[in-house]
Amino acid sequence: MSTADILDTRDPRVVANPYDIYRELRASRDLVWSERLGLWLAPTHETANATLRTKSLGRIYEPQEPFDQWEIFNWLHSDSILDSEPPKHTRLRALVQKAFTPGRIAALEPNIIDICNGLLDKAQAKLQAQGSFDVLADFAEPLPVLVIADLLGVPREKANDLRRWSQDIVKMYEYGRTREQELAAQKSGFEFSSYIAELAALRKLEPKSDLITALVEVEEQGEKLNEHELIAMCVLLLNAGHEASVNGFGNGMVAMFRNSDQLDLMKSSARKNTVTALEEMMRFDSPLHMFERTATSETVIGKTTVQVGQKVVAMLGSANRDEEVFENPDTFDVTREHNPHIAFGAGIHFCIGAPLARLEMQNSLPMLFERFPNLQLAGEPVQRPTFVLRGWETIPAKN
Ligand code: HEM
Repeated sequence: MSTADILDTRDPRVVANPYDIYRELRASRDLVWSERLGLWLAPTHETANATLRTKSLGRIYEPQEPFDQWEIFNWLHSDSILDSEPPKHTRLRALVQKAFTPGRIAALEPNIIDICNGLLDKAQAKLQAQGSFDVLADFAEPLPVLVIADLLGVPREKANDLRRWSQDIVKMYEYGRTREQELAAQKSGFEFSSYIAELAALRKLEPKSDLITALVEVEEQGEKLNEHELIAMCVLLLNAGHEASVNGFGNGMVAMFRNSDQLDLMKSSARKNTVTALEEMMRFDSPLHMFERTATSETVIGKTTVQVGQKVVAMLGSANRDEEVFENPDTFDVTREHNPHIAFGAGIHFCIGAPLARLEMQNSLPMLFERFPNLQLAGEPVQRPTFVLRGWETIPAKN
């Protein structure tokens, strides 16, 4: 048995705390073979970073079978920017970057503040009526969905459907998923893509100033972005645009509640510490823990030669606790200055939405503390059983 087999991603104790095992995995400072998963693990900052940056390690989508049953789901992935490699990736990335400009992101700040205020009003009313509210369900979850909906031009009333579709689809990224979860993912993939197709058709007839219109216009300028690619892009933006944001915020808030000195610091000076605090929230308990790559030619990472066709997993959550890169890596410090975490990835697939995720948190974090200056837990938070996408189900809080 290799060392990596101590990492059982379905074991609830490992889900509760993977960090002790990560420390053991990092001990050899090299890749570690996992017999259980049949792939290499890259647990250090250096190996995870190299895995994401090495060209001969590509994101290769393996279609689900039977093909007829998984048709939509398969093209939603194979035509998505996240699951493609150059030259297709370069073309898709350049197109979405053209539509997803810094100006368009910055212009969303008033929307973010407006959405936060609306959610905080409801949370406050709930607190008065019931004595507590849920930091996740009442704040961290709806916020990024509503923001990405505004950005794309999806009506806010659709937020509940978007959340459900996206939650069903991302279950496919976990190891050891059930047949029931697969069926739900298929159904949601179908409903989601049909909805986006309809919306894109409407924007062709009646353009607006939203991102879907910008992507439709890009599509129309020649054969640059075909219809499947356009739909896949919107679905990915909606999924990626909120799953990680919800969990990043929730994980960071639980870390804050468990470290009362840090919580007190945020209560007394949230605005001053927001920028370092949000990076520390991303690092300390990262929302995304594993990203796979496949070797398209023999590749050396660390001291290991990866053979063609073998997979390597960049372990972002472990890399972000690497004792050789971070001082006191297991300490949650909202004022941490030197923080080269890789929670947003690295290399050509580096998160396009990082500026938006950061802008959201720069506003939502201080607004939450300003509204509830004595914010505290109102019960035990309940963790999600998932490993790759790490997060909480509920975080009950009061003021
Ligand atoms: C806390 C929030 C977020 C985190 C931690 C996060 C993390 C990541 C990571 C690690 C990757 C790279 C995956 C890989 O290398 O295989 C990625 C890619 C991506 N993210 Fe994010 N993300 C966040 C928010 C967002 C938001 C708000 C959006 C969009 C509005 C977004 C859109 C994307 C897209 C489109 C990609 C694919 C880029 C490509 O393949 O070139 N993400 N994200």
